[in-house]
Amino acid sequence: MQPSKQPSHSEPYGLIEEKVATLTLPNADEVIVACDADSLIDRIAADLVVHALECVRQFGDFHLALSGGSTPEPLYRRLMYDPNYRMLPWRRTHLWIVDERRVPFDDPESNFGMIRELLVIHADIPPEQVHPIPVMNARPDQEYENDLREHLEWREKGQDRLDFVLLGLGSDGHTASLFPFSEAIDEEDHLVRINEGGQTPEGGRVTMTYPLINAARFVAVFAYGEKKAEAIARVAQGTENKQQLPIAGVRPIGGKLHWYLDEDAAARVLWNSETEPPVPE
Ligand code: 6PG
Repeated sequence: MQPSKQPSHSEPYGLIEEKVATLTLPNADEVIVACDADSLIDRIAADLVVHALECVRQFGDFHLALSGGSTPEPLYRRLMYDPNYRMLPWRRTHLWIVDERRVPFDDPESNFGMIRELLVIHADIPPEQVHPIPVMNARPDQEYENDLREHLEWREKGQDRLDFVLLGLGSDGHTASLFPFSEAIDEEDHLVRINEGGQTPEGGRVTMTYPLINAARFVAVFAYGEKKAEAIARVAQGTENKQQLPIAGVRPIGGKLHWYLDEDAAARVLWNSETEPPVPE
């Protein structure tokens, strides 16, 4: 299939025809490929609003976990300045952080620092519903896990989970701070772990683990740009385990996994789709 490069803005949010190709990836319930990063941001922002409104309707609140890195920065800005997305029910939202470097929040490397600056200070979110990871404390993993459990246990059994987890993808296949061959990859019980890997500053990182991520109602993997193409080709191949390719360990048990890609990120998989299916049956 030759993807169209001509998005239409006639649909709500200009989204529907901007989904230029349909792909499959292992474990994914849906793979959205937009013609460019800008259209992709619209699509994921619109889906986020729909999920948030639905959760507030069902449960009275919405538990959202956001990643750092550079990829989501334009999304966070768009959520604040674009009137289409200002209806996100921030007053009913609990904001959690997927992973964090153990640096103060005013350090440029701090994910929460970035999210606070782009989102929190502009959103109508009650301060007690903002949950940064207490990275400078001795056991931020234990404290954050307790905080998560305390807030989620108000939900009825089965619904006591994160509602929407936004994940990024590193070019080495890591996600959150779950790096290839790192210790937290094998965690089966704890929801949060201190972990090493990547360009980790002294003291390590703190990360949500697969047991927490895979219990979520909805997981969105968000990646655009050609730097992500190789990692996505490896995912499509489906031959590597989670130690080699940590994103491969993301498999929601009772929830949905959606990938949000642009054409550049999906380039190698789209190319394959012209001659053979990206994922062998
Ligand atoms: C972080 C996240 C990490 C990130 C990927 C992608 O950096 O805080 O831990 O998992 O999502 O490394 O990063 P970019 O979005 O900067 O490419």
